[in-house]
Amino acid sequence: MTRTLTFAIPKGRILDEALPLLAKAGIEPEAEFHDKKSRALRFATNRPDVSIIRVRAFDVATFVAHGAAQIGIVGSDVVEEFDYSELYAPVDLDIGHCRLSVAQPADAADEDEAAISHVRVATKYPHLTRQYYEARGLQAECVKLNGAMELAPSLGLSRRIVDLVSSGATLKANGLVETDIIMPISARLIVNRAAFKMRSAELAPMVEAFRKAVGVRDAA
Ligand code: PRP
Repeated sequence: MTRTLTFAIPKGRILDEALPLLAKAGIEPEAEFHDKKSRALRFATNRPDVSIIRVRAFDVATFVAHGAAQIGIVGSDVVEEFDYSELYAPVDLDIGHCRLSVAQPADAADEDEAAISHVRVATKYPHLTRQYYEARGLQAECVKLNGAMELAPSLGLSRRIVDLVSSGATLKANGLVETDIIMPISARLIVNRAAFKMRSAELAPMVEAFRKAVGVRDAA
């Protein structure tokens, strides 16, 4: 009996760019996947040995790290934030480009970092935020939010936020300015390390197909 491989992909913005890449790598979800009214979370594909689950970006990393899914696509922000030793990220997919940045209200007075010892930050990325401020000799007190970080400064939750910035439109619409870029982000193919060893006959060609799909697109 062949066990199917479970491929985890994130809901949201990466999806539109990920689907053509999946197709180039030979994986196409069944029609129901594209039906916005469908409440299904797991889908068959054109390959009888591969099924797709559609979950939140942070959960892609969790499913793959625990081996519940063997392979997935997720932003490097999530890979870096979790830093799971069980995750192998062999291919930069060159999609989902954005950056992880620090932002604060446009009208906030400049703060002398040398004169303070700690900062309060609203973010979905407490690990990366603490790491960033630690390197600057500051202790970060993180208020964990799961979205709409941009609301935090105007409502007095925190002076700064650390969040993803793409076009910058969300910051602008909320009266914030980017004060520093922590790291550039792009989507990665991630694989469970144990599965990669035990099921290499299935997973190694799949990783190769993605490598090729990215290369073909770059050459186009
Ligand atoms: C992301 C991010 C920002 C926004 C930035 O949220 O958290 O809010 O996009 O994009 P921009 O610079 O182009 O305005 P997203 O819309 O993906 O939803 P989320 O809050 O559910 O993560």
